[in-house]
Amino acid sequence: MDKIRIRGGNRLNGSIQISGAKNAALPLMIVSLLTPETLTLSNVPRLADVRLLQRILQNHGVDIMIAGKRPGQNGQAGDVKQLSARTIADTTAPYDLVSKMRASFWVLGPLLGRCGEAKVSLPGGCAIGTRPVDMHLLAMEKLGAEIAIEGGYVIARAKDGLKGGQIAFDKVSVGATHAALMAAVLAHGDTVIDNAATEPEIGDVAECLVKMGAKIEGIHTKTLKITGVTSLHGAEHAVIADRIETGTYAMCAGMAGGDVTLKGANPAHLGAVIDVMRDAGITVEAAAGGIRIYRNGNGLAPVNVETQPYPGFPTDCQAQFMALMTRAHGTSMIRETIFENRFMHVQELARLGADIHLHGDTAEVRGVAKLTGAPVMATDLRASVSLVIAALAAEGETMINRVYHLDRGFETLEEKLSACGADVARIAGA
Ligand code: EPU
Repeated sequence: MDKIRIRGGNRLNGSIQISGAKNAALPLMIVSLLTPETLTLSNVPRLADVRLLQRILQNHGVDIMIAGKRPGQNGQAGDVKQLSARTIADTTAPYDLVSKMRASFWVLGPLLGRCGEAKVSLPGGCAIGTRPVDMHLLAMEKLGAEIAIEGGYVIARAKDGLKGGQIAFDKVSVGATHAALMAAVLAHGDTVIDNAATEPEIGDVAECLVKMGAKIEGIHTKTLKITGVTSLHGAEHAVIADRIETGTYAMCAGMAGGDVTLKGANPAHLGAVIDVMRDAGITVEAAAGGIRIYRNGNGLAPVNVETQPYPGFPTDCQAQFMALMTRAHGTSMIRETIFENRFMHVQELARLGADIHLHGDTAEVRGVAKLTGAPVMATDLRASVSLVIAALAAEGETMINRVYHLDRGFETLEEKLSACGADVARIAGA
């Protein structure tokens, strides 16, 4: 297993190309199940999760081709993938694949919409929480599906096809909104999804579906109105920039100090993150084609933060912000309201010298004058990158083990940071 070695203390100066958003690319690839024609996605990040989903979709009969580089294309641009689900070869998503990546459960909606049946393994819990799928199932039932759970599988049927319905979610779920939207576009009649998630990745999927012939009103709002169509056609769509990767590198720069431009980043998707970074004393400003972050000399101020659905502060940036606050001049309170167990980074940050106390859903982070390098363990994707941020400011060497967690969601992290002057290297596993 590979490791990442970081020697802290270097300032970051330069620019980093932001990749396509993992959490938009995954549902967009799943959208390909909805049409027999070719869906061409560009700016697809090169990530372990994307490769795994590719295998899962191939199992359902999707042909996937990676198009060659186009003339003049920037070497850091993402892949162009052509996905064609001419026929659905298999409506079963097996346990050994779904258990490796929760988002693959989202094939349920499109398989039901297109084929009237699906058998999808329940994903099970994961490191950050129990993460049930009750809202996904409720949405499918509201669209007329009959659902049974047998042998760890959801077996869903809609003999005469799905029918439009009223779906009112009692809390905000990104995955359940994706599932409801992807199922409703091919249902007979009208569907209303109330209390839909408004994360930019949902808007990206909805805009792609519209290019494919879907009828959707209220995109980017909490109420989505869908008029079902009988079929969708092929389209071309570019994946939006990854706002979580953007927030992460912004915090790397804020932690290490220096002056970094995040190219391709969209500041409009990062309002809450930019606000708290400014409160912490970091300068964040719009730059041509991206965002510029700099901090020269001044210390970090403590800031209290609570995670919330979009447009609030994202749970996917909570661990990274906690790492930043370990070096603030004072105490910050960081409350996690989305997932019940998303504090596994706390014990690892403590190994670097952080002073953090957990009180239920809130972490009390007392800033320390110095962090010191140590061997640490990556536990999940965002937790692992919080260790990278802390290590950039730690004295001496930090060795991060189990970096396959990082590879799920960060493309060439060590190259992007090294290019800005960080001392980061990947040590290949034996
Ligand atoms: N929930 C339920 N029932 C459901 C679905 C969700 O109770 O049927 C609960 C969850 O347990 C959680 C809350 O609702 O407490 C919100 O979960 P949500 O469904 O929004 O999360 P998700 O769709 O499983 C996506 C991202 C996560 C991100 C969350 C929240 C993808 C592939 N995953 O997960 O990203 O943290 O939304 O924004 O888009 C990551 O990238 O590291 C990651 C974990």
